Amino acid sequence: MYNPDALKKAYDKKAANVNDINNLLGKDDNLIFNHNGILMPGDNIEQPDSEAKLLKYLHKLEINQVKYLIGKMYDLEKDGLLLDAGCGSGGSSILIHNAKKCKIEGYTLSPEQAKVGNRTAKKYGIEGFVKFEVGNILYFEEKCYNKFDYIYASENTEHLTDLRLMFSEFGKVTKSAGVLIIVAWCATKGERGMIIKKQVDEHYLTDIHTIEEYINIGCDSDWEITEVDDMTELTAPYWEARLKSENVTGSEKFMYEGFNANRMQYCMFKFKKKNNLTQ
Ligand SMILES: C[S@@+](CC[C@H](N)C(=O)[O-])C[C@H]1O[C@@H](n2cnc3c(N)ncnc32)[C@H](O)[C@@H]1O
Repeated sequence: MYNPDALKKAYDKKAANVNDINNLLGKDDNLIFNHNGILMPGDNIEQPDSEAKLLKYLHKLEINQVKYLIGKMYDLEKDGLLLDAGCGSGGSSILIHNAKKCKIEGYTLSPEQAKVGNRTAKKYGIEGFVKFEVGNILYFEEKCYNKFDYIYASENTEHLTDLRLMFSEFGKVTKSAGVLIIVAWCATKGERGMIIKKQVDEHYLTDIHTIEEYINIGCDSDWEITEVDDMTELTAPYWEARLKSENVTGSEKFMYEGFNANRMQYCMFKFKKKNNLTQ
């Protein structure tokens, strides 16, 4: 069940812990992610022969996730404003800005993550373009209505129970013809799928949703779906590689099994705001 206080605490703790796996992976380039890695289509799986090489490899796979999704943003203009909804410690926004040159505002529940993100933007000399703040993406202030051209939500909508509220709020803050990209772990129906969902939800404080829920609720709201990309096969190797790390966190086995057996899916949804809607 969605609990913003518990999430704030959990992400503050992660962001401040130098030994956290996400921080270890980003320690050389300060690009911190809290998302799956993926194998780029056509790439072969590598077998690193030391922990140091394995961590480098995992970092490459998590950077691949952003690169792959930037490929979906062909309609994001340089003068556009992107909302990185549930931005984590900022790694994705930095890469998106570097590729697309647009302005970005990231929102997270965690003050520590916002601090890390702003520090990194400064290190990269892009603090005038990329800013992170503490805010709840389910409740925007009115001054944010009709503000953003694009919303990117990578692996944060899993935490939200009420997708209807989320799609409605995203509708309010986007301009007409705004675009919304969501990347999410998705639940599957059936007994094994429900077992995985329970393990995931308990470990990560999530309430993961099915592909149908994203599409139906989004389209029932202010959005029309323009693309669905099932990335499950691309992410299973990342979890398989993490299983071999000395820095396992305890979730690797069920995450790998879930994605590898397609009992949990990893999906990108691209939506466009319905034409007649302006706020
Ligand atoms: C798993 S992390 C994903 C971080 C980042 N998007 C990435 O791809 O690396 C989940 C993020 O969602 C944020 N989050 C969850 N619920 C939120 C809410 N209601 N408002 C703002 N941020 C939220 C958390 O603060 C955290 O930064």
